[in-house]
Amino acid sequence: MKTYKIAVIPADGIGTEVINPGCEVLETIARADGGFRFEFTHFDWGSDYYRKHGVMMPADGVDQVRGFDAIYFGAVGDPKIPDAITLWGLRLAICQGIDQYANVRPTRLLPGLKSPLRADLAKDVDWVIVRENSEGEYAGAGGRAHRGLPIEVGLDVSIFTRTGIERICRFACDLARSRPRKKLTIVTKSNAQRHGMVFWDEVCRGVIKDYPDLDIDWMLVDAMTTRMVLKPGTIDTVLASNLHADVLSDLASAVAGSLGIGATANLDPSRAGPSMFEPIHGSAFDITGKGIANPIGAFWTAAMMLEHLGQKDAGDRLMRAIEEVTARGNVLPPDLGGNAGTRQVTDAVLASLESMA
Ligand code: NAI
Ligand code: MG
Repeated sequence: MKTYKIAVIPADGIGTEVINPGCEVLETIARADGGFRFEFTHFDWGSDYYRKHGVMMPADGVDQVRGFDAIYFGAVGDPKIPDAITLWGLRLAICQGIDQYANVRPTRLLPGLKSPLRADLAKDVDWVIVRENSEGEYAGAGGRAHRGLPIEVGLDVSIFTRTGIERICRFACDLARSRPRKKLTIVTKSNAQRHGMVFWDEVCRGVIKDYPDLDIDWMLVDAMTTRMVLKPGTIDTVLASNLHADVLSDLASAVAGSLGIGATANLDPSRAGPSMFEPIHGSAFDITGKGIANPIGAFWTAAMMLEHLGQKDAGDRLMRAIEEVTARGNVLPPDLGGNAGTRQVTDAVLASLESMA
């Protein structure tokens, strides 16, 4: 029987509350399928680890997870530790260390859920946002000088490379081609950012010559936000830089009803290293420990992991189980307007999976 070795890193806050339910769901699917199984290895990295050891993960952390088939990640962030330390010390260190350059974020309105958009607009939301995940505005280049003096400066330098742009644009084009509408929107800001973003446009224009079958348009990032709200049905696959897609994808998950359902994959499309799957939300200090975190983002993430591992049927089954629960609407967490806790939502999805088996 095929065994998938999964590195599990729940990390902080509600990350620890949604990832174990996610593992339960994955085990249930594997059992029902009978053709594969999971071997989970848990890593206690994150802010508590930092408090004990002064680092978010061991120095060889990236190498420790390199040999796994996939990484299932919760969220990082602690009210008492600066975000730049927690994010760079763990999540970004893994993404960049393994060169998971394609971040993929699907958005659609699950049955039964309400969008803040008008129903006639929201029904057409079916997007995938592709985020450049290795460079751009989050390359980490820059510095601080003259600390504490009036002349103090802080610099963040965006890095756009031909290789980086070419590979993410090709990935987005291939993904758009695999979807029924064969439609791609390339997001830019080359009117104001006249070096890196102009280069982004140029390299993308070169890549899309190989995809004459795609319907491609271009949007400035600020105008893209209005299009997502006013004409959501005109959007399908979206390519954007690291920062732009970060912002657009939070808007996307709000349009879909809640940050609590958003899923994301950090892919190394070359498959030289493992890809990392995580709900898009953070550690949510305001609800940590209350048992009410919505686990659906972590479940949708698990469905993406199944597909990546070659178990698309199992991933589809998990999505159907989630949709069955949202459509019924009687067991929903508070962020979706209900009063069920994480445990009850998990049990409802597990029951739905069992009933399909
Ligand atoms: P957040 O995503 O943690 O929370 C934003 C709001 O959405 C909160 O009101 C929260 O209660 C709600 N929410 C999020 N996920 C939910 C869920 N599953 N169920 C119910 N409600 C949910 O973002 P915030 O507050 O900006 O950041 C908190 C910490 O998380 C910060 O330290 C931040 O750096 C970190 N963070 C980490 C991310 C990651 O690990 N990938 C992503 C985003 C933020
Ligand atoms: Mg974000």
